[in-house]
Amino acid sequence: PRHIDGDLETILLTEEEIQGRLAEMAAEISRDYEGKDLLLLGVLKGAVMVMADLSRHLPRHAEQDWMAISSYGSGTRSSGVVRIVKDLDTDILDRHVLVVEDIIDTGLTLSWLVSNLRSRGPASVEICTLLRKPEAEKTPVDVNYVGFDIPNAFVVGYGLDFNEKYRNLRVVGTLAPHVYT
Ligand code: PRP
Ligand code: MN
Ligand code: MG
Repeated sequence: PRHIDGDLETILLTEEEIQGRLAEMAAEISRDYEGKDLLLLGVLKGAVMVMADLSRHLPRHAEQDWMAISSYGSGTRSSGVVRIVKDLDTDILDRHVLVVEDIIDTGLTLSWLVSNLRSRGPASVEICTLLRKPEAEKTPVDVNYVGFDIPNAFVVGYGLDFNEKYRNLRVVGTLAPHVYT
């Protein structure tokens, strides 16, 4: 099989750029949550890489938990109607929850998730995302920590998939046209 790097048309973010930014974000998170307990909530599956690297840049304790959620609807992702595939193991009552995501595209997934989490009585709910596409936003989402704002193009790598592939790239890039055809 062909090397997966050859399927990229452009590299948007290199490994060094991603890791450098995650280190900065981790430092900011450490300052903001000083003296508080912290629960990192990763959204499966895209957030796996961000969770792994962001959490290892943190010089402090932070628990990890995971949710898997899926959009209902006729094939079109991001209908805004969401179903929980795997719920948290943790009771978040009075906890400080930081949702960790790979990307905010339309914002529908996270706006649903944040209101779901708030109904459970947490001390706080904030969002940390590596990527955000301002031009694709349909529902405004209040985000505390954003790695990079990117153009409204289909991107893969570092957790982001195309038909479940390319998550294991160390970079974020756009796919070459030959991959679609
Ligand atoms: C992707 C991405 C975000 C969400 C963003 O997940 O990882 O979770 O879509 O889209 P939105 O802002 O338009 O709602 P996806 O549903 O593809 O699942 P995955 O993480 O398992 O790839
Ligand atoms: Mn996802
Ligand atoms: Mg996906």
